[in-house]
Amino acid sequence: MPKPTRHLALNAFLMSAGHHEAAWRSNATEPDDYLSLEHVVALAQTAERGLLDSIFFADVPFLGHPDRRPSESLDPTVKLAAIAAATSRIGLIGTASTTVEEPYNLARRFASLDRLSKGRAGWNVVTTATDQVGANYGITQWPGHDERYRRADEFVDVTLKLWGSWRDGAVVGDRSEGVWAAPSLVRPIDHHGEFFDVAGPLTVGRSEQGHPVVVQAGSSGPGIALAAKYAEAVFTAQRTIEDGRAFYAELKAATRKAGRNPDHLKILPGIVTVLGGTEAEARAKADALDDLIVLRHPHEQLAHATGLPVEQLPLDEPLPAAVRAPDDNTGSRYALTLELARRDNLTVRELLRRLGGGRGHRVFAGTPEQVADTIELWFTTGASDGFNVMPATLPDTLEEFVDHVVPILQQRGLFRTAYEGSTLREHYGLPVPGREDVAEVSRAG
Ligand SMILES: Cc1cc2nc3c(=O)[nH]c(=O)nc-3n(C[C@H](O)[C@H](O)[C@H](O)COP(=O)(O)O)c2cc1C
Repeated sequence: MPKPTRHLALNAFLMSAGHHEAAWRSNATEPDDYLSLEHVVALAQTAERGLLDSIFFADVPFLGHPDRRPSESLDPTVKLAAIAAATSRIGLIGTASTTVEEPYNLARRFASLDRLSKGRAGWNVVTTATDQVGANYGITQWPGHDERYRRADEFVDVTLKLWGSWRDGAVVGDRSEGVWAAPSLVRPIDHHGEFFDVAGPLTVGRSEQGHPVVVQAGSSGPGIALAAKYAEAVFTAQRTIEDGRAFYAELKAATRKAGRNPDHLKILPGIVTVLGGTEAEARAKADALDDLIVLRHPHEQLAHATGLPVEQLPLDEPLPAAVRAPDDNTGSRYALTLELARRDNLTVRELLRRLGGGRGHRVFAGTPEQVADTIELWFTTGASDGFNVMPATLPDTLEEFVDHVVPILQQRGLFRTAYEGSTLREHYGLPVPGREDVAEVSRAG
C-alpha cells in the first residue's frame, strides 16, 4: 500500500482511572492517583514519549454520584498548566463549557495556557448536556439544546475575536522610543450580541501558534454546524466504520459548505483500547472489567434518559418501545445508545455492560497488531483523520499503546518517528490563524 501523505493524528483522552466504568475497581489502577500531579505528569510524559499529538481532559462542573466512582474532578486548565512545565511537545487540550462560562475569562485562561506552553493549548468547546450543572451557576432555567448552541456560536465568535485582538508583530518592544506595542495592532473588539457585550482587547497576546486550537465534541445537527464553522479538530463517538465514514463525509462536506478548507478540520473518533498479547487475552481482560460494573447507577441514568422509571426497564429484557424518542434536545449520545440496543437486539443488562466499556464509544479489545489494523483501515478509507485514544485503564493501557501499537504504526509509515514541530497546530498540520495565506503558499511550493 503506498504511504499515505496525510498525517495520522493521535490524541490521548485521559480520564480518572481509565475510561472503563469499573476501571477504578481493577487491580491495574490506583483509584485516586489521577488527583496527584506526579501521576498526571507521568501520563503526559508517556504520551509524549509515544510522540502523540496531544492529551485531553474532559470536564463537567458538577459532582455526580460520589459513591459510583472516584468523582472529584480538577479544573483541566490548572492541570494542563502544571503539565506544560514538565513536558515540551505534547499538545494540551482542556474542556470548558460555553453554557456556564464567560468568553473573556475563558479566552484569557486558554490564551494564558497557550503562552505558557509555547503554543500547545487547545480548547474543547462543549455546550454541556448535564442540566444539573445549571444549579451550580445560578441558572434556574437550563437553556434548551438550540439555545445552548446559539450561545455557543456567539461565544466562540467572541473568543476568536479576543484571541485576534492582538495582531502578529504587535509587540515592538522599542526601548529607545519607549514604545512597547503598536497601538494599531492591539484593538478593542466592541462586540455586542444576543448573549454577550465584550469590549476587549484581551490581556494576552498571540502565542507561537497564534491562538489555541478550537476542538469540538458534539455530534447533533447543531453540533455539526458549529464544528463546520469553527472547529479545527472534532472528537466523536462512532461505533462502526460505516457510521464513521458517514459522519466523516457529512462533516467534511459541511465544512466545505461553510467556506473552509476541510483539511483544516481533523476528525478523531474515540477508540477505547483493551490490549492483550493474544485476542483471547484481551477479550478476557475486557470481560473481567465488565464483570466489575455495578449496574445500579448506569441503570438509573438510562431510566432518567429514557423518561421511564427503573422498574419499567427490567435488566433481562430488551428496551421497551415506550422509551423517549431521540431528538436534538436529548443529544446525540442518547440516539447512539438506542441505536446500539436496537441494532444488536440487546437486553438492558447487555446494553449497560456495553456502555460501561466506554460510555457509548467504540470498545476494541485485541492485540496491538489488530488495534493498528483498525486504525489504519479507518484512516485510509475515509472514516477518520486519526483517533481519540481512550485507555480502558490507566496508566497500563496507555503505556501498552505507546510501547506496542505506536511502533507498528511507525513501521507502516502511518505515524511520525520524531516530532517535526513544537506547537499543537504543527502536530495536527493546521495553519496559524491570520497566516493561512502563508501556509497555503508554502504547501503549494
Ligand atoms: C470525546 C468526547 C468528549 C466529550 N467531552 C465532554 C466534556 O468534557 N464535557 C461535556 O459537557 N460534554 C462532553 N462531550 C459531549 C459533547 O460535547 C456534547 O455536549 C454532547 O454530546 C451534546 O451535544 P450534541 O447533542 O451536539 O452531541 C464530549 C463528547 C465526546 C464525543
